[in-house]
Amino acid sequence: MALKIGVLISGSGSNLQAIIDEIEAGRLDAEIRVVISSRPDAYGLVRAKEAGIQTVALSKDVYADADMANEAIASELVHAGCEYVVMAGYMRKVTDAILAAFPDRVLNLHPALLPSFKGAHAIADAYEAGVKVTGVTVHFANAEYDKGPIVAQRAVEIAEDDTVETLEAKIHEVEHRLYPQVLQMIAEGRVQVGADRKVHIS
Ligand code: GRF
Repeated sequence: MALKIGVLISGSGSNLQAIIDEIEAGRLDAEIRVVISSRPDAYGLVRAKEAGIQTVALSKDVYADADMANEAIASELVHAGCEYVVMAGYMRKVTDAILAAFPDRVLNLHPALLPSFKGAHAIADAYEAGVKVTGVTVHFANAEYDKGPIVAQRAVEIAEDDTVETLEAKIHEVEHRLYPQVLQMIAEGRVQVGADRKVHIS
């Protein structure tokens, strides 16, 4: 049976689009039950509507009380019948209400090789640091930002002639392949968080 997911976005939603495309191509056995955006003007909402997916757009005011916002989001996700929560460029913190409703079932995508370059400017930070390899991480979210058990990582080399923009493009390309692949592994029941709090893939 298809994996029922809820996707949280804040912006362009190119990763949401990659997930939609892989589902439509029959390579990802998932169903997006709802897309929730922390911003009413996120382009990802247009992508969701075009794909016929139910959307919820939240305004800034909702986040005046972060706990209440998270409770409202958790109840939307539960109500929509989601089994997993997929953060795709979601720029707000996911707190207890969501994490408790979906223990080890909230995924995040980060544009660097965690634990390096945490935070909201990971691509530029890696570029500025002059590292020769950065990459993409998919991990389960927990109460600490950009921590939590790592599910998958891919390396991306920074070439001599890369700019921060070309690096960004390379990273996004890798993200668009990796995130749907991870979701497919989850749909196949191959991803478990062990007692050692590490992710084990069978
Ligand atoms: C991605 O680079 C992701 O790693 C980061 O935010 C970006 C989202 O892009 N968390 P998009 O909205 O999916 O296009």
